[in-house]
Amino acid sequence: MLIHASPHEVHEIDHVEDTIDFRGRDLLGMEDFTAAEIAAILDTVASFKEISERDIKKVPTLRGKTVINLFFEPSTRTRTSFEIAGKRLSADVINISVSNSSMSKGESLRDTADNLAAMRTDALIVRHKSAGVPHMLARYLPSPVINAGDGAHEHPTQALLDLYTIREKLGTLAGRRALIVGDIASSRVARSNIIAMRKMGMQVSVCAPLTMLPVGIEKWGVDYTSDFDAALQDVDVVMMLRIQRERHGDVLFPSLQEYSSRYCLTSARMRRAKSEVLVMHPGPMNRGVEIAPEVADGLESVILQQVTNGVALRMAVLYLIIGGV
Ligand code: CP
Repeated sequence: MLIHASPHEVHEIDHVEDTIDFRGRDLLGMEDFTAAEIAAILDTVASFKEISERDIKKVPTLRGKTVINLFFEPSTRTRTSFEIAGKRLSADVINISVSNSSMSKGESLRDTADNLAAMRTDALIVRHKSAGVPHMLARYLPSPVINAGDGAHEHPTQALLDLYTIREKLGTLAGRRALIVGDIASSRVARSNIIAMRKMGMQVSVCAPLTMLPVGIEKWGVDYTSDFDAALQDVDVVMMLRIQRERHGDVLFPSLQEYSSRYCLTSARMRRAKSEVLVMHPGPMNRGVEIAPEVADGLESVILQQVTNGVALRMAVLYLIIGGV
């Protein structure tokens, strides 16, 4: 059964002309950004994407700026793409390995951040397993804080790169229908995307076993169901999520086989979807669990385009927040 969301306001903003000033601002969550601001960020991405297509992928835009990557959880895409983004803009990017920092000797997160700020850094990019850590740091650090994922709460730059990818492929966001499938309750990607997609006028559905739907889902403004086959029909975008076993163990479903039989996006299931549906995944993927290899690598998949766009989107974000300050 598909449970319908209550009607919500549909915004028609896909592109804006006005310049909005993001300088010095934190990027903590999609909750904090209006549709016009999201559109303004997306409008900035294309020029940075072009830089990554050049032989010499470097411009002097952020020369003299220092950006710190402080990751308390593993990351391949987000950490690396922020580092590449900063370096392509000529910023000095410092990666702090938590295991080799003085936090392993008992120094607190606040003291660590204060010491980094005392070195006159220009932006702190932080990922942490606990929701709210970037917000806590932003309250007392003088330089902007960018949330690279806080627990199950938000992953705003992932949502922005996802929106950019959808708009690049489909031309518009308003009125498009997205289905997000998998471990919704544990997913900061789902949460940020739901907030951002709805602000941009998209209709969002989520699909998961009942044990993977968050408490209070009926208040999120999305349709929700556990019937993947039915939910796949008529959507423009299907976004698959991995099971976050590191957050809850294996207690939410009887077996991986049972989960996959109901929630893996296979070629057979793809035949129920529109022929031009976009297949997305934020990564990391568990092939054969939530997505079949032939679908992950198939014509409808834009998974690696999401990664390519992640660099350009993060270049745009760094430029907008610390460029010209
Ligand atoms: N999408 C994403 O956040 O991937 P990483 O965990 O590799 O950064």
